[in-house]
Amino acid sequence: MGCLTNTMKLIMNFLIILLATLQAVSSLPECGELDAEVLILGAGMAGINAARTLFDEGMTDFLIIEAKPQIGGRIFHSEIRPGGAKVELGANWIQGVDPDDPEAHPLYELAQRCGGIQGNFSDFDSIIEYDSTGLQVSDLLDYDGIADAYENVEYISTARQADGQTDITVREALLQSNWTVDSNEDAFLDWFCFDFCFAEPPDNTSLFHSQPLSTYTDFGNASNTEDFLISDQSGYAKLVECIADGILGINNSRLLLETKVNIIKWSDDCVCVETYRDGVMKEYCASYAIITFSIGVLQSEEINMKFEPDLPEWKLDVINMFSMAHYLKMYAEFPTVFWDDVEFIGYVSDVRGYFPLFLSENLFLPDGNNVLQITTTGEIATRLLLQNENETINELVQVLRSIYGSNVTEPTAFIQSTWYTDPYFLGSYSNIPLGVTNQTFIDLAAPVGRVYFSGEATSMQYNGFVHGAYFAGRDSAEAVLESISIGVSVVANLLLVMFVVIFVLLF
Ligand SMILES: Cc1cc2nc3c(=O)[nH]c(=O)nc-3n(C[C@H](O)[C@H](O)[C@H](O)COP(=O)(O)OP(=O)(O)OC[C@H]3O[C@@H](n4cnc5c(N)ncnc54)[C@H](O)[C@@H]3O)c2cc1C
Ligand SMILES: *[C@@H]1O[C@H](CO)[C@@H](O)[C@H](O)[C@H]1NC(C)=O
Ligand SMILES: *[C@@H]1O[C@H](CO)[C@@H](O)[C@H](O)[C@H]1NC(C)=O
Ligand SMILES: *[C@@H]1O[C@H](CO)[C@@H](O)[C@H](O)[C@H]1NC(C)=O
Ligand SMILES: *[C@@H]1O[C@H](CO)[C@@H](O)[C@H](O)[C@H]1NC(C)=O
Ligand SMILES: *[C@@H]1O[C@H](CO)[C@@H](O)[C@H](O)[C@H]1NC(C)=O
Ligand SMILES: *[C@@H]1O[C@H](CO)[C@@H](O)[C@H](O)[C@H]1NC(C)=O
Ligand SMILES: *[C@@H]1O[C@H](CO)[C@@H](O)[C@H](O)[C@H]1NC(C)=O
Ligand SMILES: *[C@@H]1O[C@H](CO)[C@@H](O)[C@H](O)[C@H]1NC(C)=O
Repeated sequence: MGCLTNTMKLIMNFLIILLATLQAVSSLPECGELDAEVLILGAGMAGINAARTLFDEGMTDFLIIEAKPQIGGRIFHSEIRPGGAKVELGANWIQGVDPDDPEAHPLYELAQRCGGIQGNFSDFDSIIEYDSTGLQVSDLLDYDGIADAYENVEYISTARQADGQTDITVREALLQSNWTVDSNEDAFLDWFCFDFCFAEPPDNTSLFHSQPLSTYTDFGNASNTEDFLISDQSGYAKLVECIADGILGINNSRLLLETKVNIIKWSDDCVCVETYRDGVMKEYCASYAIITFSIGVLQSEEINMKFEPDLPEWKLDVINMFSMAHYLKMYAEFPTVFWDDVEFIGYVSDVRGYFPLFLSENLFLPDGNNVLQITTTGEIATRLLLQNENETINELVQVLRSIYGSNVTEPTAFIQSTWYTDPYFLGSYSNIPLGVTNQTFIDLAAPVGRVYFSGEATSMQYNGFVHGAYFAGRDSAEAVLESISIGVSVVANLLLVMFVVIFVLLF
């Protein structure tokens, strides 16, 4: 080298910069006419809060695509029978609210801004337990034992992380804390303390990512948080509708409902999605997409939608680390209230997790609704959902008769959630398996080309929860906004450099 004159160097630099600029600018229209700057795939809490975040930052050129006829996703309520009470088939609680400082919780605070929401803090001490012979067994339940063990589990989690030791399952930590399941009563408590929240047994749950659960420690006084049960007849979805209020454009032009995403075609330059609505195919292209579909949907390319080209190995690996837990909710309405005047009724079955918990909705729903909410999880939930509904009702009535006697009648109305078989969800929410690390969540949310991944599962601290989806939506929108501003500043800088070079050359 050393043979080029300064002027020649400048001309070379100019040409290189010119080429780079032309390439940066010309790569944009390669994708054809863009329908929006950002496509938001899915209108659950994550998608709607992503849209809100973009909107509030002045980015209004987005289009939300949703397969269902309404927004809310896994926040969804329905009448138990025509004209009956409206019950939540998906999320029901705002978890981790401090009653002395409720607005420290983003969702509770949102609810207040949205005109309030009807609900009550659940009192888990308001419970009575029966075994399968109808005997009240409350005195046999070792609540103190499991509470002590739980405290030790949290201690083990903190100590192991501080020491840089490897993660273990919650079950292993429970065993180290001398909690063993030796009776039906123990099995009931074991289910109540873990499966009721995670929808899978502690045998399958990561210690580090579940204990102590950030949901219960991050909002307000960590040792004072409770769960707020929503019974508002406008539904939990009222919160999602409130976030969406005013951002969907004239006649909701920024929202396409009943539109199924079939193929996501991605590249480093843009994203196009092939959609179907009423059997009519239409493609939408944008500079960016935010996908909020559940882990179950991402795992089942054949059933629901697929990527073109296939997602890279690293992305598939993190998607496949998780699974969709199964939390099944049922509601049954009876001619009268024959059960105890408590919030919860525990059923200490001979089979762990068999109709373990009833919630007396009659205490919370509007007057005259003799409704019980029933929860099951995991394999039992799946068996119950897949069989004929009348067989499930039959099993339910047998359990209630074993507790309350042969006078228990058939329910006058019955409804159950179908998230597990619904192709747009394929389960209730993401689990917290052994082996996940902070990096897993970072990789799960990381973009592939111009597709950003969002939704409840991508929330490092609150995966599985509504507020996890809320923060995930906000964070992915912010990541897209950052990428847009970097793109804009790269082009702007290149142009600036070009002008400087031209100026130097000319004078
Ligand atoms: C039974 C149950 C109980 C729960 N209880 C609680 C609770 O008490 N408290 C709590 O905090 N959390 C609870 N959760 C979890 C909470 O509901 C979820 O974490 C949260 O609502 C997920 O929001 P999201 O936006 O990430 O996903 P989603 O709500 O699943 O939104 C994704 C959207 O994408 C759409 N979609 C999927 N595929 C396609 C496609 N191909 N084309 C177009 N659209 C598509 C779906 O229809 C959906 O609307 C519960 C969940 C369930 C199922
Ligand atoms: C639930 O809350 C409402 C209103 O705050 C209150 O009137 C009602 O008594 C509460 N119900 C229970 C069972 O605590
Ligand atoms: C568990 O039991 C063992 C043996 O009795 C005892 O040494 C240990 O301290 C106990 N651990 C806890 C956390 O109670
Ligand atoms: C627990 O994990 C194992 C192995 O991953 C799996 O086979 C099993 O189905 C899981 N059990 C439940 C109840 O989720
Ligand atoms: C936090 O809550 C606990 C339990 O209710 C209480 O004992 C403690 O005083 C509270 N701490 C603060 C700082 O309010
Ligand atoms: C919005 O819908 C109303 C009623 O259907 C219609 O009259 C109006 O023209 C629509 N506005 C736009 C901008 O499409
Ligand atoms: C359940 O039973 C009712 C009445 O016995 C009957 O009308 C209904 O068709 C049955 N439902 C199913 C899914 O079999
Ligand atoms: C069943 O109902 C009848 C009539 O109401 C009543 O006499 C009887 O005591 C009830 N039986 C039980 C087990 O509650
Ligand atoms: C993982 O992230 C949480 C907060 O999101 C943090 O408290 C924790 O220290 C992190 N763990 C590691 C090993 O970095």
